[in-house]
Formats: sequence, structure tokens, C-alpha cells
Amino acid sequence: MAKITTQKLQEMKEQGIKISMTTAYDYPTAYMVDKAGIEIILVGDSLSMTVLGNDSTVPCTMEDMIHHIKPVVKGAPNPMIVGDMPFGSYNVSKEQAIANANRLMKEGGCDIIKLEGGKEMADTVKGIVDAGIPVMGHIGLTPQTVSKLGGFKVQGKGEEAAKAVLEDALLLQEAGASSLILEAIPEQLGKLITSKVSIPTIGIGGGRYCDGQVLVFHDMFGLFEKFIPKFVKQYLNLAPEIIKGLEAFKEDIRTEKFPEEKHVFGGIKEEELKRLY
Ligand code: KIV
Repeated sequence: MAKITTQKLQEMKEQGIKISMTTAYDYPTAYMVDKAGIEIILVGDSLSMTVLGNDSTVPCTMEDMIHHIKPVVKGAPNPMIVGDMPFGSYNVSKEQAIANANRLMKEGGCDIIKLEGGKEMADTVKGIVDAGIPVMGHIGLTPQTVSKLGGFKVQGKGEEAAKAVLEDALLLQEAGASSLILEAIPEQLGKLITSKVSIPTIGIGGGRYCDGQVLVFHDMFGLFEKFIPKFVKQYLNLAPEIIKGLEAFKEDIRTEKFPEEKHVFGGIKEEELKRLY
């Protein structure tokens, strides 16, 4: 697979080829996602909850993001790598947003940045794009501002609310965003937005008509059990299997079944060590 670019994703939309995207936060996961031929990896601030153990994405810092983007870039040469702008890194001023977007690209090494928000972010998106950094928008349910939205609720329900999300999409496209995440909105609204914008839409609870779909890796493989949204499809349930493996490991140690002869090193005989005993 050749390196995926924003141009390639645009062609996929135009040809009606669905785009796949998942999160990764470390080298081995990125390596597997690349091997599976997935087009986009998001180093999402969801890592705040899935790997750092926080209750929300709000505490995630620029340092957390850069720390996790770096190994993903090393493990996955082919997919497009999206670096997520954490809460507080782009809502102070356009200059702050450009400076932090520069850091994700320069220090982290990602190909494009993502930020949450609609029309209120359009000017910031334009500033970042004008600075030479591609931007993926994220509208609908925006987890960083979930307290403002009143909880993890489907957005864009009803005509007025739907119109506002459509307007967000159009303004972000006009500002220069090269793709859009549509999170937790009614399927028909996802379909409408996808037909109205020329850039690719990637749904996460955005319905079947988006140009692509994204899921959080830890949700797909049963590695994060605190909360499983309706839009998640679980492909494997690994946590119980891993726990079983760890229990077996403990039992093997207690019963001296591990290590076996094949796991140990030779190279010196006990008699040779006699004087050292
Ligand atoms: O941080 C993340 O993983 C995300 C996805 C939910 C799209 O933003």
C-alpha cells in the first residue's frame, strides 16, 4: 500500500470506495493497523480514557499527544496519521492553535491534525490550513465539550439542530478542512452532509452513508469496558482472554510449570560454580 494522502482519500470519495480508520496509540497497534491495510490512523485524545485511565478526554495534554503520536508514526508508514489536538490546545486564540498544530506535526510527526468544533472553529481551521497544515474537522458529538452539550447525546436531532450541524460541515469545508468526522448524529443527517460536502466524511455513529467509518481500537477489541456506545461493533473480546492467560501464567509459576527446560539458558555446569556456592 502506498502512503495515504488527503488527495487519495478525496479520490476514494469520488470513486465511492469506503474509507476505514481506527485509533492507535502505540507502536505494536499501529503496526497491526498498517498490516491490515486500514487507510487512516487516528492518534485520538480518547487515549486519555482508554490508556491513561482518565474519566474524560479533558485532562489530555500536548505532551501526552506527542508522546503517543511518535511511536505510531514509526509503526505505520502507510496509513495517513491524524494527530488529535487536545482540549485547551486550540481554544485560546488562532495563534495558539497554529503553534500547537505545528508541534503535533513537527515533534509528533503526524500527517494532519484533527480538532473538534463547528462554525466557532472555522476561522481557526482556516488559520491552521493557511499555515500549511491539513485539518480534519470533528462535528456532531464532540467529546471534549460534552459538559456543554449536556452529556454523551446524539446531536442534530430535529430540523433546527440538524441545520446547525450541516452549517458546521459547510463552514469547515469552506475554511479548508480536508475531511470531517461526523460523530453520533442521525443517519439521515450523515447522508445529507455527505452529499452536500465534496470532502470525505468519516462516521462514528454517523450512519451507513458516510464516506468512511472510524472506531476506537479499544472498543473494537474489548479492551475498554467502562462504556460501550451503541455505534461500536466489537470484533473480538480480548480482555477476558488476556485475563485468562494471566491467571494461567500465575498458576504455572505457583505450580512450577513455568519456566520449563526450553525456557532456560545453559553455558555453565553446577560443578564449575561449586566454589561460588
Ligand atoms: O479521540 C478519538 O478517538 C476520536 C474518535 C472518537 C473519532 O476523536
